[in-house]
Amino acid sequence: MPEIRPYRPADREAVAEICLRTAAGGDDATGVYSDDSLMPEVFALPYVEYAPELAYVVADSDRVLGYVIAVADTAAFIEWWKREWTPGFAARHPSVGSPTGHEPSFTEADLIGAGLDPERMRIAELADYPAHLHIDLLPELQGMGFGRRLIDTLRHALAARGVDSVHLGMDAANTGARAFYDRLGFHELPSSTSSAPLLGITTS
Ligand SMILES: CC(C)(COP(=O)(O)OP(=O)(O)OC[C@H]1O[C@@H](n2cnc3c(N)ncnc32)[C@H](O)[C@@H]1OP(=O)(O)O)[C@@H](O)C(=O)NCCC(=O)NCCS
Repeated sequence: MPEIRPYRPADREAVAEICLRTAAGGDDATGVYSDDSLMPEVFALPYVEYAPELAYVVADSDRVLGYVIAVADTAAFIEWWKREWTPGFAARHPSVGSPTGHEPSFTEADLIGAGLDPERMRIAELADYPAHLHIDLLPELQGMGFGRRLIDTLRHALAARGVDSVHLGMDAANTGARAFYDRLGFHELPSSTSSAPLLGITTS
């Protein structure tokens, strides 16, 4: 039976793989962009590098099947990203690659832009919702209660660090994830829009 445990450095590649396999509005984004490392380099790996203590995975004896990752202080993370992540990212991804035959609404240029510009994470409600998270489970783990338990685990960890609230941004097309967040009690923040939903919840 899979179990929730703290992230370990050896989980890094598995986290990147799960990010990619759930990145197309909750579905597999493998091959959508010219470089499969792009999506995890924007939405997963900076988190486990910056705040491994706020990452939890669901794993069985063989492999990692899901994760929640977060930062407690998004403003500090933005500054770290500019200093420590942008230079390497820019060197690894100097330009948009060859067309893949896919035409995602979040284009490869958008994705590279997101990797270069952490200021996109500076939401208007940051003072009240300083933390933010990402959660992704492989299809075989979905619908078994692990998503709720991962969010609970993270909320407890944030509360223990004195962080009162956490937010997330999501793809408006991901209706399954939206149903999940609504069910757990997340609410829309004032600057949320229908095309770029922004949700928040207290940690205790
Ligand atoms: C979205 C996701 C994190 C939810 O995790 P999960 O383990 O599948 O959800 P759980 O089984 O813990 O469900 C928790 C509650 O949400 C509800 N829920 C979950 N997914 C739902 C859906 N698609 N539609 C309606 N309700 C849903 C469940 O019914 C459950 O309600 P209950 O606890 O009151 O019985 C997971 O499905 C996932 O990783 N999906 C792919 C990647 C993704 O979309 N990530 C989010 C990006 S913003």
